[in-house]
Amino acid sequence: MQPGDLWRKPRLCYRAGVLDILLRGARLPGAATLQDLGVVNGRLGLPEPEARLTMDLKGALVTPPLVEPHIHLDAVLTVGQPRPNLTGSLFEGIAIWADRVKSLTVEDVKRRAEKVLRWQLANGVQHVRTHVDVCDPELRALRALVELRQEIGDQMDLQLVAFPQQGIFSFEGGSELMRRAVGLGADVVGGIPHYELTRELGIKSVEFTFALAAEHGLRVDIHCDETDDDHSRFVEVMAAETIRLGMAGRVTASHTTAMHSYNNAYAYRLIRNLARAGMHVVTNPLDNSVLQGRFDSYPIRRGHTRVKELMEAGINVCIGHDSVMDPWYPLGYGDPVQAAFVLAHYGQMSGAEELPRLIDMITCNPARALGLEDYGLREGGSANLVVFDAASETDAIRLVPRRRLVLRRGRIVARTEPARTTVVWDGREEAVDFQP
Ligand code: FE2
Repeated sequence: MQPGDLWRKPRLCYRAGVLDILLRGARLPGAATLQDLGVVNGRLGLPEPEARLTMDLKGALVTPPLVEPHIHLDAVLTVGQPRPNLTGSLFEGIAIWADRVKSLTVEDVKRRAEKVLRWQLANGVQHVRTHVDVCDPELRALRALVELRQEIGDQMDLQLVAFPQQGIFSFEGGSELMRRAVGLGADVVGGIPHYELTRELGIKSVEFTFALAAEHGLRVDIHCDETDDDHSRFVEVMAAETIRLGMAGRVTASHTTAMHSYNNAYAYRLIRNLARAGMHVVTNPLDNSVLQGRFDSYPIRRGHTRVKELMEAGINVCIGHDSVMDPWYPLGYGDPVQAAFVLAHYGQMSGAEELPRLIDMITCNPARALGLEDYGLREGGSANLVVFDAASETDAIRLVPRRRLVLRRGRIVARTEPARTTVVWDGREEAVDFQP
């Protein structure tokens, strides 16, 4: 369902007189005409003539909050520590992280993670699922993020994934650490089967993750087949477990880059099984565009999951940011639109009907994967929304503009003054708005 569809069928229940905010001239995703939106008592209501604050959006795109389904907040802002990654490769990144992790403290993790959460909020992100490395006998990163989740309260929604970076059965005490992580308050159970020592341990780790999640009524989100090895085939095990345990809609496979290299007959069968299982997929175009294909001579594979085929099969595909300035990816400022921009190129999603779908992949699609309730622009729903400095979904991808306004429960929680650019042409200074 598109966010705009909800608004077009308003339930006439929320007229409360003077509005707190009236947003005139909003363009909702997929809508041909402009719409006025009212905000009262933190909820979206029908437009009324009177409001304490009226803003003319002049046709700016308005979406529900951006949703970040895949980030590693415990590693953010560590780029260059204790040394830079000179090759930019995954394996140099892992070696650097192994050194950096020695100096990890609860305060260190909280300070960096909170900074990036502020960046994300400024970018319109209000719901975040972060993977948290639990291969640490002291569980410092998880304790930090459990504390931070408590401290930020209702400012943003944070889901924590117990993520065994070194493996569940290939790291001493890994399975016990996963159980302790769930006891400490992890919302989602993770895994990394392709990193386990053997294929058998990989399968065992997937079964362990599902059993732990089922036991505690939690969701599953596994880093799965994040490699160029076409023999890495653990997503099929995830599909089988999802079907066996009846966990449709509660399971996400992240990365799945090996799918790029599978033969087409195998990929065809696998994708149908993922659809049958009702699984979600998160693709991370920023990290995987720089990390994959590193063992190839020319031609170099893109090493990217099969986004279009997955979507054609009806599978819910979302875009994740993954890293922000860490040993694996030195760039980024937590903006999902940057990741969508890269996927437009990397996933060849430049078709006229494909570009707008990239906005779905950072809003309503990840909202489904995270199981968010009270999400979307609908009358009576929470007044959580984002105003882009762009007139359409395609322009939002083209310009990657700052977010003009972010509302959370009807309150302005982020705003950007409109930028004004001029150029001197034939000796005269004139404004440029980058519109045709
Ligand atoms: Fe990841």
